Amino acid sequence: MDSHFIAVKKLDDLPPGSCTSIDVEDCGIALCNLGGEIHALDNTCPHAGGPLGEGTMEGDLIVCPWHGWKFHIPTGTCRKNPSPSWNVQRYDVQIVDGVIQVALPSKAD
Ligand code: FES
Repeated sequence: MDSHFIAVKKLDDLPPGSCTSIDVEDCGIALCNLGGEIHALDNTCPHAGGPLGEGTMEGDLIVCPWHGWKFHIPTGTCRKNPSPSWNVQRYDVQIVDGVIQVALPSKAD
């Protein structure tokens, strides 16, 4: 599927060890700064829809604020239920001139 990068946040506004939720083009994204490396995951927890970006980070895991399920930030892998159906989608990220850009799927014409 084609994708396109969208500017979502200044890098300086997401310090290492922090995460946040953003909405862009009808997509909810959890943005995480893992030791200076930015990762973007689907913001919707596959358990019951909790907002992952409003959770906390424990090492390289993000912890859902609703019931505590943990997901590996670099891969989106669910640590609670190790099955692909419980993983969260990842999005590619690039930094351009100090701005975080996330690759979102292009909408069909
Ligand atoms: S909604 Fe995320 S752990 Fe339940």
